[in-house]
Amino acid sequence: MKPKLLVARPTFPSVIDALSVHFEVTSNQTDTAWTPDSWKLAIGQHDAALTTGSDPINAMVLGTHPRLKMVANMAVGYNNFDVPAMTALGVTASNTPDVLTETTADFGFALLMATARRMTESEHYLRAGHWKQWRYDMFAGAEVHGSTLGILGMGRIGQAIARRGAHGFGMKVIYHNRTQLSPELEADCKAEYVSKEALLRTADHVMLVLPYSAQAHHTVGATELSLMKPTATLVNIARGGIVDDAALAQALASGQIAAAGLDVFEGEPALNPALLTVPNVVLTPHIASATLKTRLAMAQLAADNLVAFFTEGKALTPLNQLAKSASA
Ligand code: 8YV
Repeated sequence: MKPKLLVARPTFPSVIDALSVHFEVTSNQTDTAWTPDSWKLAIGQHDAALTTGSDPINAMVLGTHPRLKMVANMAVGYNNFDVPAMTALGVTASNTPDVLTETTADFGFALLMATARRMTESEHYLRAGHWKQWRYDMFAGAEVHGSTLGILGMGRIGQAIARRGAHGFGMKVIYHNRTQLSPELEADCKAEYVSKEALLRTADHVMLVLPYSAQAHHTVGATELSLMKPTATLVNIARGGIVDDAALAQALASGQIAAAGLDVFEGEPALNPALLTVPNVVLTPHIASATLKTRLAMAQLAADNLVAFFTEGKALTPLNQLAKSASA
């Protein structure tokens, strides 16, 4: 008997086909919305699940004696998992590191450029038929090349953004992270370690790439925004909740900072309505890793994790180590 696998959200048919060799697959290809009850019920009936960042796995969903043995998240971030609870209940967790690093860094840089150079704001103006004549200061934005880029969170994606800024755009790169990088990595990224406060005070562009955790909640709120330069931009490709979106909307409306680019939101897909009323913000629907090539690589890695766990007893990129490895 094949183990039962729940694929929580639509994914590539080729990945479903490959998984069907090893699993009896239930796949939500129609993207029917889960309610808390239907999600809990479905999780309770499967041995494994392939989830996205929007699908919660915690003690409440799992119950006390879960049938579930393994969950593969199709995301590098895993704040939708309660990993300690999963470990305690004997559920292996995995994520998809590395395969999305460069693609996500490309997007972070694109969002920075669009924000600093007011690309969507000016496009809306043009589409609305307001462009009557050229003016020297029309949509004049902030310089990107040669400016100071401050990166909060210097993991793989932060480093890839630093390289783009330092090597491609001649930017001075400063960063803050829980731990300082090795001198070799700092030299490779041409990045200098500074305190969070120094970063906020001196960066022309602040880029958020840190993982979400309870401690990281509102890493940038009213106090942090008040430290930033009035000409500065803020880009969040990390997670909703890292920024206090209400405080940010206020800072944008009052001109406390110049502009923001946001790919992630508190409570997404809902948005703080105040963000929709300010013009100086570029908004995208959590698409930083969205190229078909990368999304396929993510889905494949999630699937490979599931197959490796059920055939060899060990996931490829696990997030937890269980005392006793589960067998197929
Ligand atoms: C995912 C992401 O697309 O990998 C992550 O952590 O934020 C995105 O790449 C999203 O989480 C869907 O799973």
